[in-house]
Amino acid sequence: MARFTLPRDIYFGKGSLDVLKSIKGQRAIVVVGGGSMKRFGFLDTVENNLKEAGLEVKLIEGVEPDPSVETVMKGAAVMSEFKPDWIVSIGGGSPIDAAKAMWIFYEHPEAKFEEVAKPFNIPHLRNKARFIAIPSTSGTATEVTAFSVITDYAKGIKYPLADFEITPDIAILDPALAETMPKKLTAHTGMDALTHATEAYVASARSDFSDPLALKAIEMIVKNLVASYNGDKEARDKMHIAQCLAGMAFSNALLGITHSLAHKTGAIFHIPHGCANAIYLPYVIQYNQKACAERYAEIAKHIHLPGKNTSELVESYLQLLNKLNKTMEIPSTLKEYGIAEDDFTKNLDRIANNAVEDACTGCNPRPTTASDFKKLLQAIYYGNRVDF
Ligand SMILES: NC(=O)c1ccc[n+]([C@@H]2O[C@H](COP(=O)([O-])OP(=O)(O)OC[C@H]3O[C@@H](n4cnc5c(N)ncnc54)[C@H](O)[C@@H]3O)[C@@H](O)[C@H]2O)c1
Ligand SMILES: [Fe+2]
Repeated sequence: MARFTLPRDIYFGKGSLDVLKSIKGQRAIVVVGGGSMKRFGFLDTVENNLKEAGLEVKLIEGVEPDPSVETVMKGAAVMSEFKPDWIVSIGGGSPIDAAKAMWIFYEHPEAKFEEVAKPFNIPHLRNKARFIAIPSTSGTATEVTAFSVITDYAKGIKYPLADFEITPDIAILDPALAETMPKKLTAHTGMDALTHATEAYVASARSDFSDPLALKAIEMIVKNLVASYNGDKEARDKMHIAQCLAGMAFSNALLGITHSLAHKTGAIFHIPHGCANAIYLPYVIQYNQKACAERYAEIAKHIHLPGKNTSELVESYLQLLNKLNKTMEIPSTLKEYGIAEDDFTKNLDRIANNAVEDACTGCNPRPTTASDFKKLLQAIYYGNRVDF
């Protein structure tokens, strides 16, 4: 038996924040990040719309990028005091993911983080509150996914919490929120979305439901990402939809080892998530093609890349990814990113061992051991072709 789960409602298009004016409930807690949503006036709109709906509103502000377990626990305590029946999260992946995790510990104060971090082990939610997600970046698609990525800084590990319990009830995709993203954030989040769609298309849990979403997302991202990066508003709006389609695919098909590596290096080297994925994806495709070259070739064919046979088509897709990275000034190796060699060497074993344990490793099309991860990381650091 397989399962395919999405939010019940997805509101999209300019002005879709208006739907908040008709939410029925008593109290809404709004979880937000460092200030961009306030600065651009979107937080006020959300607050005012919820008040117009007759709800009492409280804010949890200042969620940091790559939110910590401590931030989650603090937020859950504020929720326990305020007792919201709606949790509304607005911003990038970080505040929305933090809000999802706060939701778990608000509903289940007795739950233990280590238990919740085990894949598909989150207790039943929605006894106290339902969840609305409003993304302001075009990448993570956390507004439609069953994931929340929380960092344990003491252990230096990013945990992807995974369970359909935390798939939001309502996603609101107003492209106006993403129009304020600076160039670098647009590049990183856009490559995160392309990685989601590519990994979902080859993941072992893919299905006939997820495949068309992944392909459509790839088609739209390839067409719009560079224009969006260069400030084209229409392309920026398309990217907001495309990343969400990719999210619908990967939330159900799951991901692969590009993400395992991004999670495990991200917490140690502080590389932005999308940037890490953008660097690693070409190497992972070189590694995975021994298991699923035809699937990558299908992607290449779908977007009309040249190639007379499977390996030429895979090569075309690799070239496209490298070109996208170059155009958007994303480095092609970890060394070029600026990680010092001794820092890399010192952490190599730890990252490789942690990556095996990552929730995304199990769905990768090719099984991967700690020693494979080590070799992959070395290729990624020095920029060597993966030929094992
Ligand atoms: N839950 C999932 O399914 C999922 C999937 C992929 C990644 N993630 C996680 O999401 C996090 C990354 O999220 P992200 O890439 O959206 O970035 P983010 O939420 O960490 O935000 C990065 C920075 O961009 C700013 N920002 C956000 N929106 C803006 C806007 N519209 N204009 C100007 N500035 C803006 C923020 O204030 C912040 O400083 C990572 O922790 C990653 O691991 C989660
Ligand atoms: Fe991601």
